[in-house]
Amino acid sequence: MKIPICLIGEDSLALAALKQQLDKDAAFSVEGRAYAYGDAFEGLRNKSGPIIAVIDLNQDPQRAFGIAEEIKFKLPSVRLIMTSNSGAPDTILRAMRSGAEEFLPQPFNWPEVLNSFEAIRRKIDNHAPRTAERGHIVAVSSNKGGVGSTTIATNLASSLAGQRKSVCLVDLVLQFGSVTSFLNIEASYTILDLAKNLKRIDPLFLDGSLVKHASGVRVLAEPFYAEDARRITPADIDETLDVLAQSFDFVVVDTPKEFDDMLTVVLDKANLILFVTEMDVPSLKSAHRAFEMFERMGIYEKKIRLILNRHVKSKLMTLESVEKALGARVFWTLPNNYPVAIAAVNQGLSIQECDPRSDIAKSYSGLCAAVLNVFATPGVARREEREETGAGLFGRWMPVRGLIKE
Ligand SMILES: Nc1ncnc2c1ncn2[C@@H]1O[C@H](COP(=O)(O)OP(=O)(O)OP(=O)(O)O)[C@@H](O)[C@H]1O
Ligand SMILES: [Mg+2]
Repeated sequence: MKIPICLIGEDSLALAALKQQLDKDAAFSVEGRAYAYGDAFEGLRNKSGPIIAVIDLNQDPQRAFGIAEEIKFKLPSVRLIMTSNSGAPDTILRAMRSGAEEFLPQPFNWPEVLNSFEAIRRKIDNHAPRTAERGHIVAVSSNKGGVGSTTIATNLASSLAGQRKSVCLVDLVLQFGSVTSFLNIEASYTILDLAKNLKRIDPLFLDGSLVKHASGVRVLAEPFYAEDARRITPADIDETLDVLAQSFDFVVVDTPKEFDDMLTVVLDKANLILFVTEMDVPSLKSAHRAFEMFERMGIYEKKIRLILNRHVKSKLMTLESVEKALGARVFWTLPNNYPVAIAAVNQGLSIQECDPRSDIAKSYSGLCAAVLNVFATPGVARREEREETGAGLFGRWMPVRGLIKE
């Protein structure tokens, strides 16, 4: 069967030349007309089966990357190739991060172009999965210490396991991670062993590298020695997450608070980023700065969800004012319940196991359902909510101080 190819780009002579060339190849059938950027998603959404989309970045690279991200997130059967007259490393990197499996610099080098299409054709024939077809990677992230990232990562993981999902919880706080102490488990192997043996990984080895918690969650622990964190590279993390995502329904990642190359890899790979903050001015200011940074990094805004931890109703600062200040809807609020949170940690239990009837345990069940719902209707529901507020996640900002009512 010929593999269909769609072209996306505006007034692109390069795409016209590409079509002419590919029309000679019996393995592919190129659609007659290229989609304008604005029509591409709708056009592709109505197609079924494997398809290759070629996006020409030249007209408006930022817009093209946005479309690519949307396709990557919502249309798993589309395989992306990008092309540009800029072969700058930045452009290539951004293309790969936006989901491109191949990058074709212009002017085209025809033998290389055909090799790229052939490589994707082989992947389609072998049913090799594209990122979105595998388990979901959920990164729990914050740029401020102590806001509850580890609590949320561990309890979301155990709630997902309670819903019969296979879950791996990864401690990427490589220097002083705390997932194993939160769950009172002892690891025999760590992420260092896994990352350094990726070439000889098999299901048995993988299983042996993880430690099982009573909730059913498998944990990939941080290295035993903080100084070993340096031995793990962003490329190791990239591959480790790939391997885990092929074996589990969910890979929940507790991430470090500092932004570096490793965190960039995790945020790029994540299908969902739960960004945690608390309802006080310093935390919200930090959140504000993190969102600005996500925007500069080109992180796909529709995969970010805001969680307010330790939420206490206050007349001084309302949820609405927080949403206005951050330009984002609050996805979930978790109540402040220190006695239960700390009792769970001290016993190595999930909050659910520790006190299932508490407000916080119920809230975690709700969070778990909401996360499952995100993947049932990828990206759609939340986008509409944002449109109601009139402010995208990276849209209009208000000064954070301004949200305190005088
Ligand atoms: N909803 C909550 N109500 C009350 N206490 C909570 C809640 N969530 C977390 N805590 C408590 O807050 C403290 C900090 O939580 P946690 O360690 O999960 O934060 P963190 O962001 O991972 O911190 P770090 O920056 O050290 O990694 C812990 O003592 C935890 O038990
Ligand atoms: Mg932590």
